[in-house]
Amino acid sequence: MRLAGLMWLWPVIATVTAITSASTNLYNFQPENATSIWEQNKIPILFSLNETQRTSYNGSWWTSSYLTTEDSQQYFVFSQFMTGNNNQSIYRSSVLDLADLSYSYSIVAGNGTTASKRLLIQAEDNGFEALSDDNIARMRTWSNNDNTTFDITWNATSVALVDGGTGSFALSSSTSYQWGLPGCRTAGTLTIDETEKTIDPTNSMTWYDRQWGTTGVSSSISALNWTWHELHLPNTADKLSIWAIDDNGSPTARFATIRARDGSQYVVPATFTPDYGRTYESSNTGTVYPLDWTVEIGNWGSLRISSVAEDQEVAGSTKAQTIYEGFVTFVGDFNNQAVAGYGLV
Ligand SMILES: *[C@@H]1O[C@H](CO)[C@@H](O)[C@H](O)[C@H]1NC(C)=O
Ligand SMILES: *[C@@H]1O[C@H](CO)[C@@H](O)[C@H](O)[C@H]1NC(C)=O
Ligand SMILES: *[C@@H]1O[C@H](CO)[C@@H](O)[C@H](O)[C@H]1NC(C)=O
Ligand SMILES: *[C@@H]1O[C@H](CO)[C@@H](O)[C@H](O)[C@H]1NC(C)=O
Ligand SMILES: *[C@@H]1O[C@H](CO)[C@@H](O)[C@H](O)[C@H]1NC(C)=O
Ligand SMILES: *[C@@H]1O[C@H](CO)[C@@H](O)[C@H](O)[C@H]1NC(C)=O
Ligand SMILES: *[C@@H]1O[C@H](CO)[C@@H](O)[C@H](O)[C@H]1NC(C)=O
Ligand SMILES: *[C@@H]1O[C@H](CO)[C@@H](O)[C@H](O)[C@H]1NC(C)=O
Repeated sequence: MRLAGLMWLWPVIATVTAITSASTNLYNFQPENATSIWEQNKIPILFSLNETQRTSYNGSWWTSSYLTTEDSQQYFVFSQFMTGNNNQSIYRSSVLDLADLSYSYSIVAGNGTTASKRLLIQAEDNGFEALSDDNIARMRTWSNNDNTTFDITWNATSVALVDGGTGSFALSSSTSYQWGLPGCRTAGTLTIDETEKTIDPTNSMTWYDRQWGTTGVSSSISALNWTWHELHLPNTADKLSIWAIDDNGSPTARFATIRARDGSQYVVPATFTPDYGRTYESSNTGTVYPLDWTVEIGNWGSLRISSVAEDQEVAGSTKAQTIYEGFVTFVGDFNNQAVAGYGLV
């Protein structure tokens, strides 16, 4: 049965907006259709989005893709290229089947980046590439190895979310820069059990995220840990980016950035309460991850967020290489409405 793990949600969801269609049991992964990603000379961000695509900014090029394939199956795909100091780089990715929750991941070490007019960053046969001269309107990420095989392209059909309202915030004692295109129209292919599947662009989307600053493969952030949620509310145009950052066990940030379709960025204080009632203990790293969270978002509402599959860890050989990139669903209230949706932790 599809989405068996979600069945406990049905009594709640039936009374509010459905997270999946009743007739197909498929999640609503509709992309956005914006014709411009940013309105110039309004909110004064400190950089041009396209300029920051360049490799000289370092940091992370990242996607989470919510995919429906032509055979009406659904998958969650994560992909990231990250650079640090001394020409270190890493590519990592994962694929989750949203029906049977089978999961696989890969990590490939790279040799840093070289500057080129069009963005092209790769480690072995995995990476990110711009498909347009402005480095942003059309992009691609691909992964080609035994564990994860896909070739995903997206168009920038989504108004940018700029974290913190200006695209920058304090990551403890350092400055981090971050923006995303939360709901981009997506095409391409994904190989599952040696079968290549074609992505249905009308029912698939990608959140492209760009982050740089002092994040990355850097020892100076080893005392930090954080939990980040990206959330999609299928029945509204709001997109949420929610940060909880701790430094040596003390909270340094709890905030959400809410992006409305007109480009408004609402930055609000948040609360963050992990629930260790349900946990996943990694046999690779020994880390115990909580699988549920309650997050209050200013006076906008409160959400109960749950990881759908226990094991969604990308396990590397060091702490900096290891990350949990999990598909989540949520229910709660937001902006005076009962809501249900999905996203990533
Ligand atoms: C974009 O999507 C919105 C919401 O689904 C819809 O109201 C609008 O007409 C669409 N615009 C275009 C240009 O397709
Ligand atoms: C990017 O990394 C290189 C190599 O570590 C460094 O020289 C450069 O200053 C970094 N650029 C920025 C903008 O931080
Ligand atoms: C990093 O790689 C570039 C391109 O391969 C090379 O020119 C540069 O010398 C390397 N830098 C270091 C610090 O290894
Ligand atoms: C493929 O996945 C296995 C665990 O299932 C892991 O041990 C291995 O390192 C992965 N390969 C790559 C290239 O990441
Ligand atoms: C990195 O460079 C070494 C030496 O040239 C090469 O053997 C290796 O394949 C490269 N790795 C990647 C991921 O390109
Ligand atoms: C980058 O965006 C700026 C606006 O922020 C624009 O003026 C410039 O032409 C763009 N550059 C490219 C290469 O498209
Ligand atoms: C992106 O735009 C190009 C050019 O208009 C188009 O050929 C392509 O099909 C679009 N891709 C998606 C995923 O919509
Ligand atoms: C950081 O890690 C600690 C110890 O595992 C955990 O209790 C805490 O909730 C984490 N904080 C965040 C913001 O994820």
